Amino acid sequence: MSTSVVIPAAGSGSRMGAAVSKQLLLLQGKPILVLTAECFQHCHKRHLETVNTLVREYALTKVSAVVVGGANRQKSVMNALAALPSSSAIVLVHDAVRPFVRERMILESIDKARVHRAAVVAVPVKDTIKRAAAEGFIETTIDRTTLWAAQTPQAFQTRLLVEAYERAEQDGILATDDASLVERMGIQPAIVMGSYENIKITTPEDLDLAAAMSGRFGA
Ligand code: CTP
Ligand code: MG
Repeated sequence: MSTSVVIPAAGSGSRMGAAVSKQLLLLQGKPILVLTAECFQHCHKRHLETVNTLVREYALTKVSAVVVGGANRQKSVMNALAALPSSSAIVLVHDAVRPFVRERMILESIDKARVHRAAVVAVPVKDTIKRAAAEGFIETTIDRTTLWAAQTPQAFQTRLLVEAYERAEQDGILATDDASLVERMGIQPAIVMGSYENIKITTPEDLDLAAAMSGRFGA
């Protein structure tokens, strides 16, 4: 039995608006997806060659396969799940653009997925969240005490996640995270405390934040 990690890295980074996809931008002198993969070390087709080259250049020896991504994140993860070894008992899915994940989150996610079948790294929401009506006016305020912002990694018993992906495909469901696909099967993933540093680098200001945090990160 083994544990696998899927790192979706096939996005185009439209919200970042950079010349290259954001997972290839440099942080601490390295491509972001390398920093992310290194946290686990101890594509759309056009990325495939680049990623293979990075895997060799940075000696990411735990990367067993680089697979072609899909039109959306869900399709990219599906392609990766199809490439997992049959011995995989637990699988983690972790965004290539979250290089500030901590070992504690990875280990707790694995432990909790073993017991509860699924686990999600998340943080309590800090802002007051409001729902708007269609015309651009606030309709209501949602009780913040029950709200969590989902991060990655998200960990699952492998056969459960594979089944959740098959069902989503059959039902025409397109989700933005993996846990929601097992939630719709009636499973309640366990919460693993994340951190406000474990950001998903999404827009240009996230890059500034990441550069600022890099100074005190690591070591
Ligand atoms: N991802 C992927 N395949 C896709 C879309 C996204 O593997 N077709 C990956 C991204 O590379 C990233 C993660 O999923 O590591 C989270 O997605 P997101 O932050 O939305 O990245 P992009 O889709 O690239 O950015 P945008 O939505 O701004 O275009
Ligand atoms: Mg996207």
